Amino acid sequence: MSEKLVSAEQVAKHNNAESCWVIVNGDIWDVTDFLPEHPGGSKIILKYAGKDATEEYEPIHPPGTLEDNLPKEKYIGKIDPATVKEVAVTETKQAVAQDPNALPPLDQCLNLYDFEVVAKKVLKPTAWAYYSSGADDEVTMRENSSAYGRIWFRPRILRDVSKVDFSTTLLGQKSSLPIYITATALGRLGHPDGEKNLTIAAGKEGVIQMIPTLASCSFEEIVGARVREDQVQFFQLYVNANRSITEKLVKKAEAAGVKGLFVTVDAPQLGRREKDMRMKFDDVGSRVQNDGKESVDRSQGAARAISSFIDPSLNWKDLEWLRKVTKMPIVLKGVQAWEDAVKAAELGLAGVVLSNHGGRQLDYARSGIEVLEEVVSALKQRGLFPNPKFEIFIDGGVRRASDVLKAVAMGATAVGIGRPFLYAYSAYGHAGVEHALQLLKAEMEMNMRLIGAPTLKDVVPEMVDTRALSAHINSVPHSHGEQVYERMATAIGPAKL
Ligand SMILES: Cc1cc2nc3c(=O)[nH]c(=O)nc-3n(C[C@H](O)[C@H](O)[C@H](O)COP(=O)(O)O)c2cc1C
Repeated sequence: MSEKLVSAEQVAKHNNAESCWVIVNGDIWDVTDFLPEHPGGSKIILKYAGKDATEEYEPIHPPGTLEDNLPKEKYIGKIDPATVKEVAVTETKQAVAQDPNALPPLDQCLNLYDFEVVAKKVLKPTAWAYYSSGADDEVTMRENSSAYGRIWFRPRILRDVSKVDFSTTLLGQKSSLPIYITATALGRLGHPDGEKNLTIAAGKEGVIQMIPTLASCSFEEIVGARVREDQVQFFQLYVNANRSITEKLVKKAEAAGVKGLFVTVDAPQLGRREKDMRMKFDDVGSRVQNDGKESVDRSQGAARAISSFIDPSLNWKDLEWLRKVTKMPIVLKGVQAWEDAVKAAELGLAGVVLSNHGGRQLDYARSGIEVLEEVVSALKQRGLFPNPKFEIFIDGGVRRASDVLKAVAMGATAVGIGRPFLYAYSAYGHAGVEHALQLLKAEMEMNMRLIGAPTLKDVVPEMVDTRALSAHINSVPHSHGEQVYERMATAIGPAKL
């Protein structure tokens, strides 16, 4: 690549569909011919024509995207820094508040909900909309946490709980908690270090991180951010219609020491997340009338655009192919009915994640914790549970160690947590995620003492009363964060937020 310096004034002339140049990380690219092909539509690029697009581009494109998708001759050169003031910079706000004093001290976050309160204040609106949204009316998203409110404890007394041990193994890999950090896409929307924040915190706190296919850091960056040699990571897989691309990805993950492959099976099409969609409309200039020339449907925002490769024809037969491609244990992520869990166990897969994708896919899908009850019962009837070679994970709405213990009592090996960790690092970087995990550990210790369980083996089905679970009556207001305890804004005074 030539290192020719080009002035900002020169770049600014290429500001339309006939000639469109953009600056990304100091490099200037001619994207004119690429405009009709851009999966997110041409308008979003044209908004930055002749300007610096780095801030908008970076969080949603892994490094190397431009190099991989554009012919070399479309590289124009480097922006001349001496002229850079003349370049109109993006109007987008910084992801995180400029003034660190605007953030409450980390130790004022006393539980996972507090991170949500803070993140809502500091995230730019597009990032907040993408992270926090659920599908359609968000009924399933709210139900995910409400369902835990319908399970009550039956604690036991007079047991020696002077020492409490909540360490465990997931797919044979050690974890300090029966919790893992689940895969969430587009990590750099919330923080410049994106998913690496999760890697660092997971390593320090001894938990396992699931790396998403659609991470905004590259796979190599995430693996490279491990803080310990023996740090374990899993990989979440979206299967590409072009199987050779998926095969390469899976082999790369295995070669990098990834210890489990979680194939997402609940997203043949992305759900409609309307909060996100409205934002995206705004972002691409909804106030400007669509000129009718644009053929790409942008209505589902960046997420839809970058996930268009996901193969909706994926089916049970493809698992035979996948098993030939890798020796990693294969787990299906997004199972929602006992029939499919039984089928997965009978096929000899390593496990299932009972999940509705954090309420982002099918609205009125039941919560993972409710599905867990029927799955365990169906597996037991067939002599397939307990089975150390088939593990049941669940995710969605888990915010307290008490939720985790309810799931473990009902037969889950571990639970995945998504949004709270995103919120924690968006506001505080990896330190936020470490603090969140420490809070969960403190809650675990206390709750295990109070239910009379010194180890996870002592957390048994008799310790929970699940009679109301499938009643689908919201016995607890849908947002614990707003209703159940004093909100952080009140606790520290609104001025600081
Ligand atoms: C912002 C966001 C992005 C996500 N991206 C993915 C993804 O790329 N692949 C996937 O399998 N699941 C994805 N999920 C679903 C999570 O893995 C998980 O099922 C869900 O977040 C659990 O619910 P919780 O956020 O309430 O903890 C995403 C969830 C969120 C909130």
